[in-house]
Amino acid sequence: SSTGDVDVYKLTIRRSTAEILPGTATDVLTYDGHFPGPVIQARSGRRVLVRHHNDLDMPVTVHLHGASVPPPYDGNPMDVFAPGTSRTYVYTNRQPHASLWFHDHAHHMEAEHVYRGLTGTYLLTDELEQSLPLPKGQYDVPVTIRDARFDEQGQLAYTMSDRNRTTILANGKPTPYFQVAARKYRFRLLNASNLRLFALGLSDGTPLTQIGSDGGLLERPVAVPALVLSPGERADVVIDFSRHPVGTRLVLTNSGPGRPDQVGKVLRFDVVRKADDPSSIPKVLRTLPPATALPKAAVTRHIALSMDEDGRPDPRGFINGRLYDPDRIDTTVAFGSSEIWNVTNTNRRIAHNFHLHLVQFRVLERGGLPAGPTEAGLKDTVRVAPGETVKLHVTFDAFRGDYVYHCHMLDHSAMGMMATFRVR
Ligand code: C2O
Ligand code: CU
Ligand code: CU
Repeated sequence: SSTGDVDVYKLTIRRSTAEILPGTATDVLTYDGHFPGPVIQARSGRRVLVRHHNDLDMPVTVHLHGASVPPPYDGNPMDVFAPGTSRTYVYTNRQPHASLWFHDHAHHMEAEHVYRGLTGTYLLTDELEQSLPLPKGQYDVPVTIRDARFDEQGQLAYTMSDRNRTTILANGKPTPYFQVAARKYRFRLLNASNLRLFALGLSDGTPLTQIGSDGGLLERPVAVPALVLSPGERADVVIDFSRHPVGTRLVLTNSGPGRPDQVGKVLRFDVVRKADDPSSIPKVLRTLPPATALPKAAVTRHIALSMDEDGRPDPRGFINGRLYDPDRIDTTVAFGSSEIWNVTNTNRRIAHNFHLHLVQFRVLERGGLPAGPTEAGLKDTVRVAPGETVKLHVTFDAFRGDYVYHCHMLDHSAMGMMATFRVR
């Protein structure tokens, strides 16, 4: 519902069933029965209230990923609400447009809860974005991509660090087909997998046109033959189907790391009709301060991500050598200050990524070289390959309080690869 300057959503977190594989219903966890999750549309400066009722038999917490919100509404892992109770999250949306998402974050349970379905899309728009002639309305489509494993009964099966999640789902279906008109579409891609990195491309070999990332539009569009998305990352892309005659089939494919049966088709497009296309992609989408003009950093920190690599049955995840302890403040930063965070993956074989709550940051360097154009915008999640270091510039000017940072391969964060920072 919508009154005055606030939109109100009421969602019940509950068990449900979904027909993911054709002809078989499987148990899932849902926001209000939706699998994949609901889509919330929000506008900068206009408040959104989401009242969640917990109808499960376990505690939950809801985190709006990529948003700047005060601590009580951030969905901290320990700030859970019990079965049978409700919690209202207030989102003031005092930040520019961005393709956000929300998901469960209950301590140690986030990986399984997200895997079983507790994710949703939250599209925050603003005047700048609305003023651009990009594809809109039915031509602006959120696509959540993830992997999954089904057991012999066709039930969604979860075990931690499962290497056999061989089915790729796009909006909750294995390789669905999507009927498109011969014109431009904008797709808001989200990787909601627990571990999998995707490298997405088009079957006809034409590059994707990336226009946005985690924190909204890039400064300018960039042609990307293989778009790499690690868990939690988003990319806005435009695909122009007008080059294709009606009847063409085009496939969004994944060539990311994995066994041959784990790569392949993600989403099929069938061009079914001609259409006028008033949309266009501006050469300049927005302006951001150049890396050289960012506020001077007062502090440089080093963050090491690591995981047991010795094949033990219960591997642990560490940040700077420590397991997550919700009672410990790992990092204290001064409100309003800017810092450089050098984040290193010290594993030799295991990929990680890095997500900070509360703020969008800039990626200055990857492996000692300036970050590429796909990472030149505002980011909240960044991949870190084995042995690699990414250099981030972060400004903590949003809110004071305690927040977490973690690897967004949620099987890893649930193994301890998470820490708390305090802005004071
Ligand atoms: Cu999507 Cu703590 O993150
Ligand atoms: Cu987050
Ligand atoms: Cu990790």
